[in-house]
Amino acid sequence: MSDHELIKEALKARKRSYCPYSNFAVGAALLTEDGKVFSGCNIENAAFSPTICAERTAIFKAVSEGYTSFVKIAIVGGNVDRPVENFCYPCGVCRQVMMEFCDPDSFEIISATDEDHYRKFTLKELLPEGFGPDVL
Ligand code: THU
Repeated sequence: MSDHELIKEALKARKRSYCPYSNFAVGAALLTEDGKVFSGCNIENAAFSPTICAERTAIFKAVSEGYTSFVKIAIVGGNVDRPVENFCYPCGVCRQVMMEFCDPDSFEIISATDEDHYRKFTLKELLPEGFGPDVL
């Protein structure tokens, strides 16, 4: 699947964001090694700390369905009432969750404003010297 198509899925997922507290809507789309796409949105909570990011929603959906090998993830985020204006990057917790399942050298993180405007990083670039399962 192309980066373009994956970003489209992330934009679709963003429409399902539940973000009444921050009004910051995020969508993510995760591609598995088998070519399957799991999407996710951020889901907020009145107690704030149970809030989950779009990236982790997508990853946890995939893992809970038996998929643990991933190729890339596309992320789009911004004010819920406007089209995406800026690049949104995964928070530290989400980077750490990626570290659990993804190869830091090859897993790609695509931050986009739309299908044609995006930046791409490896997990290693966004989480250098990360702590992963191979340490234990
Ligand atoms: N958020 C994400 O879903 N992903 C990110 O990469 C950054 C932050 C969410 C969490 C919260 O619902 C809202 O955006 C504001 O922080």
